[in-house]
Amino acid sequence: MTKIGILVGSLRRDSLSQKFAENMDVFFPETYELDMIEIGHLPFYSQDLDGEDYVHESFKLFREKVKEKAAFIFITPEYNRSYPAVIKNALDVGSRPPSENAWNGKPAAIISQSPGSYGGFGANHHLRQVMSAINLQVLQQPEAYIARSGEMFDEQGVLIDERTKKLLEKFSAAFVDLIEKHL
Ligand code: FNR
Repeated sequence: MTKIGILVGSLRRDSLSQKFAENMDVFFPETYELDMIEIGHLPFYSQDLDGEDYVHESFKLFREKVKEKAAFIFITPEYNRSYPAVIKNALDVGSRPPSENAWNGKPAAIISQSPGSYGGFGANHHLRQVMSAINLQVLQQPEAYIARSGEMFDEQGVLIDERTKKLLEKFSAAFVDLIEKHL
């Protein structure tokens, strides 16, 4: 089984990002397992919580979860033309200590979404910039900027927008190709 971790950049109950996360399974082969990696409970990164004598328990557990995955999908809203702080915090926690950077060399794919018209372009590209520093191997094409995301789900939270389903199908196939190159 190839394990993919999904990280969602919104903590709110009715999050659209979370709805996309719950609809991703169908686009992957049966030999792939997609699991959420929770990030909302992590304290803000501080070196005082991450010393030689003491490491915060949640940091240890989070790093273990990241290390057991082969690849990651980040599904993010846009906050003020960037991605939310909760994702940055998770990236920082996973990246330390540098000699044990849990992201190092692994494939990652970004889906940005917005109920507005721009599909979270700013969030998507800020995330790419930081991913290069921690050596995540980012899927370049196709890009996934999903605009008007508030109109894409039925009342049960099932993705019903056909254009977006086609995009995510292509996106996931390209991501599987990238992952297979890294296994
Ligand atoms: C937003 N939103 C937003 N949308 C956008 O397209 N570009 C932006 O820069 C911002 N900025 C922004 C800042 C903050 C602090 C909030 C709370 C919201 C709106 C945002 O796209 C919308 O609330 C989404 O529904 C958030 O995603 P989830 O929570 O539904 O996953």
